[in-house]
Parts: sequence; C-alpha cells; structure tokens
Amino acid sequence: MSNYGQVYSAWKKDPEAFWGEAAKEIDWIKPPSKIFDKNAGVYGRWFPDATCNTCYNALDRHVKNGRGAQRALVYDSPVTASARTYTYAQALDEVATLAAVLQNLGVTKGDRVIVYMPMIAEAVFAMLACARIGAIHSVVFGGFAAKELATRIDDAKPKAIMAASCGIEPGRVVHYKPLLDQAIDLSAAKPDAVLMLQRPQSQAAMTAGRDHDWADAVSNAKAAGQKADCVELAATDPLYVLYTSGTTGVPKGVVRDNGGHMVALKWTMKGLYGIEPGEAFWAASDVGWVVGHSYICYAPLLHGATTIVYEGKPVGTPDPGAFWRMISEHKIAALFTAPTALRAIKKEDPKAEHLARYDVSCMRTLFLAGERADPDTVQWAENILKKPVIDHWWQTETGWAIVGNPVGLGILPVKHGSPTVPMPGYDVQIVDEGAKPLPAGTMGSIVVKLPLPPGCLPTLWQNDKRMVESYLEEFPGYYKTADAGYIDEDGYLYIMGRTDDIINVAGHRLSTGGMEEVLASHPDVAECAVIGIKDALKGEQPCGFVVLKAGVTKPHAQIEKEIVALVREKIGPVAAFKIAVCVDRLPKTRSGKILRATMKKIADHDEWSMPATIDDPAILDEIAGALKSHGV
Ligand code: COA
Ligand code: AMP
Repeated sequence: MSNYGQVYSAWKKDPEAFWGEAAKEIDWIKPPSKIFDKNAGVYGRWFPDATCNTCYNALDRHVKNGRGAQRALVYDSPVTASARTYTYAQALDEVATLAAVLQNLGVTKGDRVIVYMPMIAEAVFAMLACARIGAIHSVVFGGFAAKELATRIDDAKPKAIMAASCGIEPGRVVHYKPLLDQAIDLSAAKPDAVLMLQRPQSQAAMTAGRDHDWADAVSNAKAAGQKADCVELAATDPLYVLYTSGTTGVPKGVVRDNGGHMVALKWTMKGLYGIEPGEAFWAASDVGWVVGHSYICYAPLLHGATTIVYEGKPVGTPDPGAFWRMISEHKIAALFTAPTALRAIKKEDPKAEHLARYDVSCMRTLFLAGERADPDTVQWAENILKKPVIDHWWQTETGWAIVGNPVGLGILPVKHGSPTVPMPGYDVQIVDEGAKPLPAGTMGSIVVKLPLPPGCLPTLWQNDKRMVESYLEEFPGYYKTADAGYIDEDGYLYIMGRTDDIINVAGHRLSTGGMEEVLASHPDVAECAVIGIKDALKGEQPCGFVVLKAGVTKPHAQIEKEIVALVREKIGPVAAFKIAVCVDRLPKTRSGKILRATMKKIADHDEWSMPATIDDPAILDEIAGALKSHGV
C-alpha cells in the first residue's frame, strides 16, 4: 500500500504545514518563523525570514554528526582509467580550502562564479565552495561552444571562472582553455580571475595576471592552514544560476535559492527516491545540467548519502556493461539516467549479456527522466533488471520532479508511457488556451497552479520581467510548463511534447530557434527552419532546412556542410546538428507562418493532412523529396 494519497492530500490541505515539517530536516542558522510570503517576489517566496548555508548542510553537519568517515563522493573515470573516493571529512577539507582560495581571489557573497568543468570531483567541490561563501555559481556544460559560454558570461558577469584544462570524450580530448579564452574575448564582462585546473591530458596556456593555477592555489592555502567558514545567507539568497534553452537564442538564467532548494531536495531523497542516508545514489548525468546540480551535487549530500561522479559514457567506455560495473563496484542503491543511455546500451547489448557479468542486487530502483521514456525501452529495462523502472518528469526550472512515482511513500502501479502522479507541492492541471481546466483524457497545456513549491525557480537571473512573460502571463494563476499532455482517469499524467521550439536530443534540451539564428547568419542563407525529427537512439535530432539567397552558385552539398560546421562552432557539439537540407522554398501559411509541424510529420513518416491555410501545397512534396535524398 502506498501512502501517496494521504501525503498528497495532507500537502494540498495545508501546504505551509507540509513544508514547515519538511524544513525540520535542515540545519538552519535562523529557523523559519514564516513558511511562505505570498507578497514577496514574483509569485511569493519560501522561508522568507530564515538564514542558512547549503554547504554546511551538505558537508559540515554530517561530519559533526558522525559521518566523517563515510563515503561522500566517489569519482570513477573510465576515460582516464582512474577512480577516487572522498569521505565526508575529506570532502569538507577540500571544499573549505577551495572556498578560501576563492576568497583569496576576492570572491565574496553575491559574486557570480562560472564553473566550466568536466565530470571530475573538483567540479562538485567548486559548486560547494561557492555555496560555502555565498558566491552564486553558474555551471556551463562542457559540450557548449565558446559563443554559448560567452553569452552566459555576459549575463552572469562573473567575478571569477573556475575551469579545467580539458574534458575527455571517447577518442577525443576537448581542450577547454582555448574555448574559455575565446569566450572571454567575445564577452563584455571580463572576469577578474580564472582558476585553472591543469589536467595531465591538456596543458592550458596561462594568461599572466588573470589565470591562477588551481593546484598551486589549493596547496598554498593548505600550507597556510586557510579554510573558509560557512557564510550566513538568507534562505532566499540565490545559490546558483543555471542557464537553459529559451525560445530565443538567449538562454534563460534559472535562479535557485538556498532554503527552499534544500528543503525540497532533502524531501525527495526519501519520499521520491526511497534512499536512506549512507546509501549510494548515482545520477548518471553531467554537472552542467539540472539533474547534475540536484542529484550529483546537492541532494545526495544534503541527505548524508554517497554521490557518484562518473566520467564516462553508457557505452564504449569500454563496453555496454559500464553502468552495471559501476552499480556493483560502488554498491549503488538507485541509478538515475536518461532513456537515451538505456537505448544506447540496448542497441549494443540487446540481450544484456554484459549485465550477467555483474552483481547488481544492491540496486533497488532505476529512475529515468530528461526526455520521454518510450515504453519499449522501459519494458526492456524491467525485463533485464527485474526491478522497478520509474519514469519521472521535471524541468531545469523546477529543480526536482513535478510528477513521479514516489518509491519512498510506497510505489504506485507503473503505467508505461506515464511518469505517474504529481508530487506534493505541485497542483498539475491540463488547460485549454483560455486557461480553462480540461476533463480527464483531453490533451492540453500542462500547467502548475501557483505558487510553485520550494526548490523551483523564484525568478530568472535579474529578469523578473522575462520570468513573468515566459512562464506566468499566458495562463494567469499558473506556471506554464510548455509541455503538452493529458491526465487519465486515475490521475496519471502523460507528456506528449513541447508547446514551444524546444527539442530534446539525447536528454539534452536545445532550442531550434537558437539553431535557426545560427543558420540565418550564414552569408548564403535567405530563410531557414529547424525542426526536431525522430531518432531511434537520441529520441530526437535536429534537422535544418535552408533557402539560399538568389544568385548563390556554390554547390548545395558544400553549403550544407558549412552549415553543419557552423552550428557546431556556434552552439557546440552537444547540438548534434548533422542534417542540413537546401530547399527552393519553405511551406508556409497564407499569412507567412512556416509550417514546421507538418514538415516534422513528413520527416517522421507520420500521417499528416494538408493544412487548410497552406499557401502552396506543392512545396510539401518538394520537402519530402529533399528529405528522401538526404536519407531521412
Ligand atoms: N564536452 C564536450 N563534448 C561533449 C560533451 C561534453 N561534456 N558531451 C557530449 N559531447 C559531444 C559528444 O562527444 C558528441 O560529439 P561528436 O558529434 O563529435 O560525436 C556530441 O557532443 C553529441 O553528444 P551526444 O548527443 O551525447 O551523443 P554521443 O554519441 O556522444 O553519445 C549517448 C550518445 C547516448 C551515449 C549519450 O548521449 C548519453 O550518454 N546520453 C545520456 C544523456 C544524459 O545523461 N542527459 C542528461 C539529462 S538527465
Ligand atoms: P530540462 O530542463 O533539460 O530538464 O528539460 C525539461 C524538458 O524535458 C521537459 O519540459 C520535457 O519536455 C522533457 N522531459 C523531461 N523529463 C521528461 C519525462 N520524464 N517525460 C517526457 N518528457 C520529459
């Protein structure tokens, strides 16, 4: 029997009592006397008068409470053939020293620090060191190009940047320093300092006066016995800014606060994931994404669990047994990954022969999120693992699951294709264009009744206006998720797709609008459209159509190659933009709107009907022909 119904009703009846109780799990400096202030901020603020420190709750308190010798973080890196475990006491030592190094560089409370690092333990220490002194970190994913990094530097205006000399992709070293130098050149907001971790695989050239060697700075601080204390912060002070794709090329700076974030994440570790302190929890994501922020860095540590930093892939490092090796070697109780990773494993090892080599009996549950979990993949995973496979749905904006199957409250029956039911904190509704609730089984926009629960974004970085315009204006009284779907008779939610230009490629969130801006910047391109088309491995992949300017004589194949290279250069390899197609015309409505949805159906070989408002139906045949000649 699940307690879910009871817990959800209790939350709904008295949200402040629910979150007030959950807040008791946190060591506050000044405990909250008020739980929620509906008049503060854009839609209200949680724990408005409390003070706290997130790093204290993630590390210090566990050392104080006797967990000093327990594993806090396991770093396992098949791409460098190395591994290392840090106890809570060791992690605290590293973080307090690194925080002192930041202070030596002049970083203080409220300053922003960009973190541009691969999946190494130091990336998590960097985030926690910022949290310790009240600096606001902004982690940028290593697969983004210099221009994307520059956009984030310009918006965050960091005092310092913490970086490593390289990331390691299978068969390729990604030299970060040239990208970082280029990004700083491109940006108007120059940081005062760069703290550079030299990795043996790539030696970064240092800029005198600005760049500081990480290892030297840490060992000097250690020799001088320097350690930073935890700084007292308002619960509502920002902990971090994480940029995510918006509907234009300019990313949105999602802000996370300190207090509400801790309360919500701590609750999820037991309530949703069913994890006990002392157990190991592995989110196989990247610190550059929200999953990495919440479930590699913060939540497992807030809970006194062990977190895993994995520098590798599901396949090819060295084989599709990599995940199973990790689980058995590090005694992992729950794995959280993206469906793409499972599809990659399934493709290379459909009979799960590699799984048989390992004892994964320590793992109780597999969690999936980041993109739609297709029933075939879920079924395959259930069959090979003989354990519950739990889909759950959330967004960078929310920081934790909106809808899931609360394993800790008692698992609910799994329905393939549905991430199950709303978590306490979220009143999820399906509405029509006029914000009117729709009956069960009817597709509509998925919205969440305000206020959002603790942990969700209070606003966008220094941009309340964009927060309101992006999320709160269209459906008054609700947060717009920009996902569409329906709720069935049992209250289970089904996510059917986005209502904006976002696509999801291998669990990575990308804006087709941002890609169109890049295509349009090519000198030979007059007009363009980018759509996400079905991909058996990555869920979706981008596909760009371009109409060339009159008089362009260059061969189409050459222009298509240049466009693919341009997206890689401007957005980064993570865009996985491989298909560019030159066409004579784009299909449009009579009012000039490009018919992207119909183009997508044609590319996906789905059934489609002629849009009534189409200007020239013949163009759709041209599109189908062009796609066919490109193997789509
Ligand atoms: N730094 C630099 N480059 C990166 C990178 C990083 N951190 N991460 C990915 N890239 C590069 C890849 O090397 C690849 O480059 P290529 O075009 O030269 O091959 C490109 O970006 C696209 O990467 P990806 O879409 O991840 O494809 P892949 O073929 O490298 O790997 C999977 C396929 C399925 C193994 C991989 O996508 C995966 O592990 N997915 C899980 C996604 C995930 O965890 N998402 C987080 C949300 S929960
Ligand atoms: P991100 O902000 O990168 O976490 O991406 C959030 C988006 O990914 C959501 O708005 C959905 O479109 C999609 N998404 C995340 N999890 C799921 C899921 N479990 N099922 C379907 N779509 C998902």
